[in-house]
Amino acid sequence: MAFTIAIDGPAAAGKGTISRAVAAHFGFAHLDTGLLYRAVGRKMLDGVEPILAAQQLRPEDLGVDGLRTAAVGQAASRVAVLPEVRAALLDFQRAFARRDGGAVLDGRDIGTVICPEAEAKLFVTASAEVRARRRYEELLAGGAVTDFETVLAETRERDHRDATRADAPLKPAADALMIDTSELDVEAAVAAAISAVEARSLERLKG
Ligand code: DC
Repeated sequence: MAFTIAIDGPAAAGKGTISRAVAAHFGFAHLDTGLLYRAVGRKMLDGVEPILAAQQLRPEDLGVDGLRTAAVGQAASRVAVLPEVRAALLDFQRAFARRDGGAVLDGRDIGTVICPEAEAKLFVTASAEVRARRRYEELLAGGAVTDFETVLAETRERDHRDATRADAPLKPAADALMIDTSELDVEAAVAAAISAVEARSLERLKG
């Protein structure tokens, strides 16, 4: 049986952590769709034309080192503006969403474009300052040399590009449940997401 949980939201809101925990809780498969755009962004930085890179993307491209860096995140956000790149990645995401046994997909447009029929939709967000602080601490822990103001400026730049592009912009689906993680720790955010999905499933069962 197919059951899709769509989890959208801006960078560093906690989508990844929440999505992995929700998938583990329900025994569903998980796809981090940002990784598809990051893999295409990586190839663009290596000199490959991004539309071609998206059309020729292979599963092993998602496993290469260094896809999580800030530079690759910005490159991903730039290639994600191109409608042809988004179109090339569509079928794979849709097939994953409707696979047997349930799926959690996290990204920017899962509830709005990739899977508008998803059984449960969440929009995970947090203030730009809180998200930049988290990203800054992650970068420092990983040994990067940067400062908070730079990370905050990059966070705002990426939010703006993701939310204002013409094709599949970042925005909550009309029927998405909002989870603001600004004041929540990981456990509380995961618990909120699981209860939101359970509430949605019960509503659907009742009918
Ligand atoms: O979630 P992330 O930070 O790994 O995503 C990197 C970029 O990829 C993000 O800035 C915009 C793009 N993206 C997208 O346009 N649509 C998605 N479903 C996922 C990511």
